[in-house]
Amino acid sequence: MAGGEEDMEIEVEKTKDTGDDSSGSIKGKPSESKTSGYELPWVEKYRPLKLHDIVGNTETISRLEVFAKEGNVPNVIIAGPPGTGKTTSILCLARALLGPSFRDAVMELNASNDRGIDVVRNKIKMFAQQKVTLPKGRHKIIILDEADSMTDGAQQALRRTMEIYSKTTRFALACNASDKIIEPIQSRCAVLRYSKLSDKQVLDRLLTVCEKENVSYSDDGLEAVVFTAQGDMRQGINNLQSTFQGFGHVNSENVFKVCDEPHPLHVKNMLDHCVNGNIDEAYKIMHSLWKLGYSPEDIITIVFRVCKTHNMPEYLKLEYIKEIGYTHMRIAEGVESLLQMSGLLAKLCKKSAVPATGQ
Ligand SMILES: Nc1ncnc2c1ncn2[C@@H]1O[C@H](COP(=O)(O)OP(=O)(O)O)[C@@H](O)[C@H]1O
Ligand SMILES: [Mg+2]
Repeated sequence: MAGGEEDMEIEVEKTKDTGDDSSGSIKGKPSESKTSGYELPWVEKYRPLKLHDIVGNTETISRLEVFAKEGNVPNVIIAGPPGTGKTTSILCLARALLGPSFRDAVMELNASNDRGIDVVRNKIKMFAQQKVTLPKGRHKIIILDEADSMTDGAQQALRRTMEIYSKTTRFALACNASDKIIEPIQSRCAVLRYSKLSDKQVLDRLLTVCEKENVSYSDDGLEAVVFTAQGDMRQGINNLQSTFQGFGHVNSENVFKVCDEPHPLHVKNMLDHCVNGNIDEAYKIMHSLWKLGYSPEDIITIVFRVCKTHNMPEYLKLEYIKEIGYTHMRIAEGVESLLQMSGLLAKLCKKSAVPATGQ
């Protein structure tokens, strides 16, 4: 038991070390990493170091900036969808608060660490009891990333710990769903909510990365990356990097190849055919997508995303979305045949053939 925990400690230290070093050297010599043939993932390379570099969620982040300035941090929970900067914000906050003591005064535990009840009892307590000299009014910080994957038992063990060491230690939790955090912990924390980033925010950031990395891109390529990212910056930057490194040029064709998603342009054409009541042509596209090996789940997701922004009469769009929803439900229940997908097309075609039926 004790041995295992020691191992973990070393591991955590190591990753911190390499993280710091590499980001330092990359900053100094951006071109070297390329010539050596080894690339740091861009998500890490461009992880913001200061709170004000974080894109989006401005109101919540300005609250964090106030905490950082005044040094008076409550325990916090940051909840929100993936890739919106939750972990980054907590790290930035800790860095802003603790400066050079960051290394000694921060303990980070994420879902890949063991976080059972014993860890809460021993490891977290031990860290909370350790003496670290910090500037006046500053606290040690325990980061519990992906806290929604902690068991209820471990969370229960945490509630008292949080109070006992409140003089010296603050907790920062990040999670996707705040309802997975037990009520008693929520009531001890300030809960901050992040929402998905807008397409523009993702696009702006991608443009910055493209410029720094000399990425050759076309506008429709970046548009495609934004489309696949769906407000998730991590996904966006990763897709940009995979496309660029795989193909050398970012255009929409390459992006959808890398991301393995049906091309929205095909789906768009398919919907157009449905709107015109042309089932044969619509079916041809569906069949070709099917032949390419996309799963019904993949296809229906894109059909929905495209339909949402498709240029068509409002009442028809509502009907379409309803039908797409039903088909998605059937797929989720396990009926994953091409026949189902064709059935959807048939229904969509019928809707536009007789717009007023059923009203
Ligand atoms: N709001 C943001 N502004 C700038 N970069 C971001 C933002 N959100 C995510 N990223 C990028 O995505 C990566 C992962 O972000 P992270 O904070 O770990 O997301 P999560 O919300 O899932 O914890 C970061 O390294 C950064 O490159
Ligand atoms: Mg995270």
